[in-house]
Amino acid sequence: MPVTAVVGAQWGDEGKGRIIDYLAQQADVVIRFQGGDNAGHTVINEFGKHALHLIPSGIFNPQTVNIIGSGCVVNPQSLLDEMATLEAAGVGLENLWISNRAQMVMSYHRLIDALEETARGPDTIGTTKRGIGPAYADKATRAGLRLGDLLQSDWLEARLDGALRQANERIRILGGDAVDGQEIFAQLMGFRDRLGHRIIDTVPLLRKALATDARILLEGQLGVMRDLDWGIYPYVTSSNPTASFAASGAGLPARTLDAVIGVVKAYSTCVGDGPFPVELHDATGARLREIGQEFGATTGRPRRCGWFDGVAINYAAWLNGMTALAVTKLDVLDTFAELKICTGYRLADGAVVTDTMPDTALLNQATPIYETWEGWQSSSADCRRWDDLPPQARRYIDRIGQLADVPVRYVSVGAERDQMFEV
Ligand code: GDP
Ligand code: IMO
Ligand code: MG
Repeated sequence: MPVTAVVGAQWGDEGKGRIIDYLAQQADVVIRFQGGDNAGHTVINEFGKHALHLIPSGIFNPQTVNIIGSGCVVNPQSLLDEMATLEAAGVGLENLWISNRAQMVMSYHRLIDALEETARGPDTIGTTKRGIGPAYADKATRAGLRLGDLLQSDWLEARLDGALRQANERIRILGGDAVDGQEIFAQLMGFRDRLGHRIIDTVPLLRKALATDARILLEGQLGVMRDLDWGIYPYVTSSNPTASFAASGAGLPARTLDAVIGVVKAYSTCVGDGPFPVELHDATGARLREIGQEFGATTGRPRRCGWFDGVAINYAAWLNGMTALAVTKLDVLDTFAELKICTGYRLADGAVVTDTMPDTALLNQATPIYETWEGWQSSSADCRRWDDLPPQARRYIDRIGQLADVPVRYVSVGAERDQMFEV
């Protein structure tokens, strides 16, 4: 391991949570490096079923230190709610820490997110309305408040004053009702009382961890196709889920990153708007959604479904510098007689693209080129070794690895912790 980033290789919801939960059994530290409570990372283990939004998916291993990194945006109320749910299920939170440099998602960020989506008229992004975009916007314009600010009340009060002037101006333009500073300050003092002891400077802790060769996992949120720079802009999130940003968002030197595991679903899904060339609007798409239970872990929205996209995986693997792939949800394909894999996009001018992702305007008019594979039509749910898989399933996974040009290291055949094996 020593430092391994685990990132989404598609449009999010690839199964990152379950892979981290599995790998965290051997990890000393897990750090979420970007995003906020827009994430829904589902983990099923002896503590039940949990959709984690902010808390790293290593939390179920009592030996693992879990850190919400500086690259994240944290809604303190969501965090407290999530902590309460986990505690009620018997999960210990002694090892949960938050970087003092992580940004706070304020109640007005959620309000602005919703107002902005309405103001976009028919051109919505389909955000999760968790205030993620407005919080990162405030970070960039330097109007953001950080978790560490909670520990200095005079400083916080002055910072809040400036932040609120900007926020209320934005709310007024968008036609919403101004928010009250005193009420928000009182709420922040409540967060300080309940979270203050978990807010730390992560540098001394991580320096020590690196010096002792601790095994560190960096947990990404979403996937490369929604990356602020490399995804289908503007239908993206407001941070960078690719591995190149993992070290910075986690608070580690870039050269310490040793490995990058790309988590990839055996077919494609996407929630939110924007071009999605492999989307199936027919009965096959509905069948994938039904068998795969493709409904958002955070918003409950039905996910758009389609065949596996080989162009996206090739792009994701190269851009992330992936060293291994974890293929999830293979079992969802068990009953299909025939499977398709997209190996290229045909653009409006007839050009064929296989090894990069066309920019959004071009992608809007791209049509997928498919090859057809024979299905295995038997259950893979009990397979625990490569040799247990039907030959058609092995060939299908081999093809995914070939398109990515990265070895497949893990295969997951069900949502339970043990329904997974190393190749
Ligand atoms: P994440 O955001 O990348 O962590 O993924 P989500 O949790 O949003 O979505 C993945 C969904 O698939 C969750 O409901 C998981 O419980 C489920 N899941 C993960 N791996 C498998 C698998 O191998 N097979 C099946 N059938 N379900 C899986
Ligand atoms: P995990 O970590 C899937 C999508 C939204 C929208 C776009 C921007 O569970 O994979 P935002 O609220 O971030 O401003 O929305 O990104 N989106 C996700 N889709 N899984 C997620 O997280 C997502 N987080 C955001 O649907 O298209
Ligand atoms: Mg998810």
